[in-house]
Amino acid sequence: MSDSRAAARALLAWYVDAGVDEPMGDTPVDRFASRLPSPHAAPAAAPLKPAPTAARHAAPAARPAGPARPVTVDNQPGAARSAAFSAGSLDELRSILQAFDGCPLKVTATNTVFADGVPGAPVMIVGEAPGADEDRAGRPFVGLSGQLLDRMLATIGLDRQRNVYISNVLPWRPPGNRNPTDNEMATCLPFIQRHIELAAPRVLVLVGGTSAKTLLDRREGITRLRGRWFDWQGPSDGAAIPVLATYHPAYLLRSPGQKASAWKDLLALKRWLVEAGIGTAAPDT
Ligand code: URA
Repeated sequence: MSDSRAAARALLAWYVDAGVDEPMGDTPVDRFASRLPSPHAAPAAAPLKPAPTAARHAAPAARPAGPARPVTVDNQPGAARSAAFSAGSLDELRSILQAFDGCPLKVTATNTVFADGVPGAPVMIVGEAPGADEDRAGRPFVGLSGQLLDRMLATIGLDRQRNVYISNVLPWRPPGNRNPTDNEMATCLPFIQRHIELAAPRVLVLVGGTSAKTLLDRREGITRLRGRWFDWQGPSDGAAIPVLATYHPAYLLRSPGQKASAWKDLLALKRWLVEAGIGTAAPDT
């Protein structure tokens, strides 16, 4: 390969890593207009219907009847809630999410990143949002921070092939890894809430401030929340799931001095699993 070709390839790779991954034409394209249904189109939200959850959950609360409204930028959190809570299984939720056009992040993402690992596993981990690697692969936590997460889990006998299920608060990558807007978060929240209800883990581990603050509805930062146990209650069932908040592995890559605290959190999780009688594989140490 000539030097100039190699330089051009390196530049393109750098753009993609930085989130500049869409070629632009001379004419502007209104992607929201092309993806969101017109107010006169058929309703985009899935029809409301009873959604039985896993056996240990009670039936969901009744939701208001009436015609579903089309998804618009003003009502997408409501439409998302109706769509998400109509799902009666993880497969159904994945299909509903893939068909949902109410979040602008989907327009710029390559893939909908739903989950990885074992559905129904005793431990569920929830991160923030897919990065460039996850967006390309369509699976959460496959990049550098995911590799660190896997190594951390292995030290206490957990792995996504056997006893861990992983997802994110946001199923679509914010372009260039920018912070999601409040509206994008509000729109995606019902999907991860229903996702947790349907996965029905014995314990939930929230990695990073965004995940912990959003799902626990707390204002404190992760430094105050980490290492503490909370209860998470699904909006449509009564079962409380114990939650441990901890640092995000991407933060640990940037701040290795915090790994000692993360290690304490892992040991607390391991202790909880032992006390709950949940077996884990022999650690890879
Ligand atoms: N960071 C996250 O929070 N989630 C991923 O899937 C990858 C990186």
